[in-house]
Amino acid sequence: MQSGTYKKLVVKQFSSDFQSAIAIEELPIPTPNSDELLIRNKFAGVNAGFDTLLCQGNVPYVNLTPPFDLGVEAVGEIVAIGDAVDGFDVGNAVATIARGGGYREYQVVPAHLAVKISEAIPEILTLMPTGISALVALEQAGEMRSQETVLVTAAAGGTGHIAVQLAKLAGNHVIGTCGSEAKAQLLQELGCDRIINYHQEDLHGVLQNEYPNGINLVFDCVGSTVFDTCVENLAVRGRLVSIGFISEYAKAPQPILQPRIYHKLFWKAASVRAFLMPHYAEYMVEARDRLLDLFYSQKIRVAINPTPFYGIESIPTAVNYLLTGKNVGKVVVQFYR
Ligand SMILES: NC(=O)c1ccc[n+]([C@@H]2O[C@H](COP(=O)([O-])OP(=O)(O)OC[C@H]3O[C@@H](n4cnc5c(N)ncnc54)[C@H](OP(=O)(O)O)[C@@H]3O)[C@@H](O)[C@H]2O)c1
Repeated sequence: MQSGTYKKLVVKQFSSDFQSAIAIEELPIPTPNSDELLIRNKFAGVNAGFDTLLCQGNVPYVNLTPPFDLGVEAVGEIVAIGDAVDGFDVGNAVATIARGGGYREYQVVPAHLAVKISEAIPEILTLMPTGISALVALEQAGEMRSQETVLVTAAAGGTGHIAVQLAKLAGNHVIGTCGSEAKAQLLQELGCDRIINYHQEDLHGVLQNEYPNGINLVFDCVGSTVFDTCVENLAVRGRLVSIGFISEYAKAPQPILQPRIYHKLFWKAASVRAFLMPHYAEYMVEARDRLLDLFYSQKIRVAINPTPFYGIESIPTAVNYLLTGKNVGKVVVQFYR
């Protein structure tokens, strides 16, 4: 059994400022019950959008009141096993997706929630659940086909760069938006057909000039005026999937005055849908296995943001970093080497 203490990040009070909402606690390392595993987390994925909304108390479907734990996906190593658990050994590398299971050095989870992996590497965090969301959103909410034009916004981000590759693998022409040259370089390496660095080119202008028939499928992570531009440029029977609205998470929702959205959609028989992974839970396992196959067979590449973040204490900085849009690929925090 492990002895000693571990640290975790807890939301102590609702606040629009992440740092003011959270505290770091030090607790005794727990002992797993008979059906549980004790895992030492090595890496956790940073989901700054979700974290910020949780700290504001603005995630209606979870309805948490402080104090509650933060962080979702983690990879690490099993350090203790409950008596009734089969199929796992101490030392196995595992991945977990559990609300509150990410931003902590140790976690106890029911064994059925852990997935054995060959090595606790951060790339796995980009596939589970980030990549799963991209895949299920494109295929189920977006009804992705082949030989269509697909637009991915925040295309070089954790979610976006997987969406770009999946849309390419399905045989589509893929447009990706991004905000820096380093991100444009990544998108080029991933085979993105048209890269729009919005600091250099106007999204609406490019779509109007180069895609007069409109966009068949939009995977929008950004929201606000980017969302408006995407709606404006949908093709006949185009589908826009709202994955998130990261441009608005740190601000109050912006009231806008314009005709109801069906005036934009109706004449094109276009549609706007929102995607939220928990409401598509039945697709997760198959999507996860398919993504792991694509990754291990090197059909998709996983980009980890090169700026390192070490330790629980670095999480507020990592969250702010992601919200300022500097990241290229998935932001992760490392707990031990
Ligand atoms: N619905 C779901 O189930 C689900 C699941 C996972 C993620 N998501 C959503 O997917 C989106 C991406 O999440 P992620 O964790 O993978 O983040 P990310 O894409 O790795 O990072 C966010 C990116 O958003 C872009 N961005 C554009 N405008 C921005 C603005 N005003 N402020 C901040 N960032 C801006 C930035 O890239 P550029 O400047 O290059 O555009 C930034 O790098 C978020 O909206 C998230 O909530 C939803």
